[in-house]
Parts: sequence; C-alpha cells; structure tokens
Amino acid sequence: MSRRDIDLEQLSASVVAPVADEQERKAEVSLRPGTLSDFVGQRELVRHLEIVLGSAKARNQSSDHLLFAGPPGLGKTSLASIVAVEMGSGIRITSGPVLSRPGDLAALLTDLQDGDVLFIDEIHRLSRAVEEVLYPALEDRRLDVMIGRGPSARSIRLDLPNFTLVGATTRTGLVAAPLRDRFGFIGQLDLYDPDELTIIVERSAALLGVELREDAASTIASRSRGTPRIANRLLRRVRDFAAVQNHPVVDTAVAVEALVLFGVDEYGLDKIDRRILLLLCVQFASQPIGLTTLAHACGEEPATIEDAYEPFLLREGLLIRTPRGRVATEKAFRHMGITPRGGGLV
Ligand SMILES: Nc1ncnc2c1ncn2[C@@H]1O[C@H](COP(=O)(O)OP(=O)(O)O)[C@@H](O)[C@H]1O
Ligand SMILES: [Mg+2]
Repeated sequence: MSRRDIDLEQLSASVVAPVADEQERKAEVSLRPGTLSDFVGQRELVRHLEIVLGSAKARNQSSDHLLFAGPPGLGKTSLASIVAVEMGSGIRITSGPVLSRPGDLAALLTDLQDGDVLFIDEIHRLSRAVEEVLYPALEDRRLDVMIGRGPSARSIRLDLPNFTLVGATTRTGLVAAPLRDRFGFIGQLDLYDPDELTIIVERSAALLGVELREDAASTIASRSRGTPRIANRLLRRVRDFAAVQNHPVVDTAVAVEALVLFGVDEYGLDKIDRRILLLLCVQFASQPIGLTTLAHACGEEPATIEDAYEPFLLREGLLIRTPRGRVATEKAFRHMGITPRGGGLV
C-alpha cells in the first residue's frame, strides 16, 4: 500500500464518529462476536440473557421478546444475531425507519419461520400505525389484515408462527410505553472499561492479522470512549497508518503517532466532543446550557449529542447535567487548557 492509497484527511474526519456508515458496517461484520462466549464485557446483561435463553431452550419454546438499549456501537446488533445463533434459529433484520407502513411489517411477519428472531433496530422510530400491528403479533401471535376498501372492507385474522422480537434503541425512554411493556427482558448496555476494550482490540487484531506489540492494544482501548465500535475503527486506522509507514509491527509509539494524526487525543475525544467542551467552557462561560441550544451550536441533533456524545463525557466527569442545563467541570477546563473566568465551577 502506498501513501497515495490512503486519504488521511478524509479518514480523520470520521474516525471517532460513534455511528457506522455503510462501508464500515461491512468491515464490522468480520469482527462481530458470534456467540455469547465471544461477547466481551456487559457481564450482568450476559448472565441474565443466558438464563432467559437457556430456560426458553429447556422448554423448547421461543424466548421472550428482548429489548437492548444503549449508546451506538456497544453491541446491540451483535447481541441480536447472537440470540439467533444461541437459539439455533433464523434472523430477519429490519429497522424502525424502514418499516414505514403497516403492510411492510405484515409482509415480514407472515414470512417468518417457526422460532425465527425478528430484529428491529431503532425500534423507537416505528410509526404509531406500525406499532398497532405489532402489539397483537407480540401478544397473541395474531395479525389482523384489512381486505378491500369502503363498505365491503373486512378484516381477516392470520395466525403467526412462534417468533422472538429483538428490539434495539439508544434509550428505553424513547420507546412507547405499551411497546416497552411487551418485552420480557430489557438489557441496558453500558460503556466498556479500558480492560474490556483491550481484550476486544486484541481479539480484532488477531482477526485482522495485525501484529500489536506491548501496550499498543491498551493505548488504542483507552482512547476509544468506552465504545467497541470506536476501538475497532481506531485499530483499523492504526493498521492503515502502520502499512503506509512500513511498520510491520504496531507498537505503542506507532499507535500514538497514528491516533494523534487522526485527531484523537488521550481521552479519545473527537472534534464534536471538543466543540461541546469548548462551547461550555468559553462561549457559555460556565453558565448551564440547555441541550437544544448546545446541539444547535454544535450543528448536531439534540438526540445525537444526548445519546452518542454525552454518556462518555458524563462518565469521564468532563460534563455534568444540572436541572438548569449542562455545565463543564474543572477537569474539562484543565483538559482543554482553558483558565476558567469567574465562579460557577463544578
Ligand atoms: N461485547 C463486544 N465484544 C466484542 N466486540 C464487540 C462487542 N460489542 C460490540 N463489538 C464490536 O463493535 C461493533 C459494533 O457493535 P454493534 O453490535 O454494531 O453495536 P450497536 O448495534 O450497539 O451500534 C461490532 O462490529 C463488534 O465488532
Ligand atoms: Mg446496531
């Protein structure tokens, strides 16, 4: 590979975005954990899931419907396919925004095989009309279909096969309460700690055939904002950099050089994170600031700030939420190298 083959500028622009683009989704497939035992971390969730799936298998029945919630890149989609693998069943994959009409869902439901998993990503984005079709399907495995129009219209009832709905959402609070109530198990995924991410980076390096030396894996892990997707992405960018620079083995120095080049600092903060902190520290001068105002100032959707960026900033103690709005902490000022003006510091 030559220097010309890689557009470093372009790579750095998207290097720590929490959400995957189409090309990355393809690259991710090979790194996805295939079974529960490959799935690193989220210990409590995994233990509970083992019980739920194990008891369903023992009864020779489909599992209860499952909802996985958490920030992007933590393993919700991976878990959905693991559920199908563990249950020895097929999986159909769709998402809230794709199922725009009730007929779209009806077509999918009637095409399910006995025992299948139906995975609906971004399930909080289902329309009300589609949700109405889903409720009887979840409760009584029944589908009411309207045939014809006007006065001659009538409804027929179809029986559906056994199936398990697996939903994924960035926040359970976004899922309509009646839908949420129909899940037998809700698993909340939390940001990973650096040790877990180190294991994930080492595993991915082995799968990609990248030779990592010394603490290179933990260096990458500690800059991944608690997110496996970002860890894997940083690993691939470090690999690209090492190839361009003719380093057959990646050591910590090579990893750090690559990450600095891609604009990833020692906390793993990217441009948006730094923009958030800069706005809070400088422009809003330590005043609490509402989510919407902050999001507009960053040029992002409020939900993106809340779901994809804030969890890590909160966990690292760089930002706090107060009843009056978001505030940067002293640690944030220090990290950004800014001297606070006046009081109001946390
Ligand atoms: N617990 C985990 N162990 C190993 N790899 C993981 C884990 N969670 C996520 N990953 C990796 O991160 C990538 C993104 O995970 P994904 O399931 O698509 O996240 P989400 O659906 O929550 O956005 C996957 O391709 C996988 O390689
Ligand atoms: Mg996903």
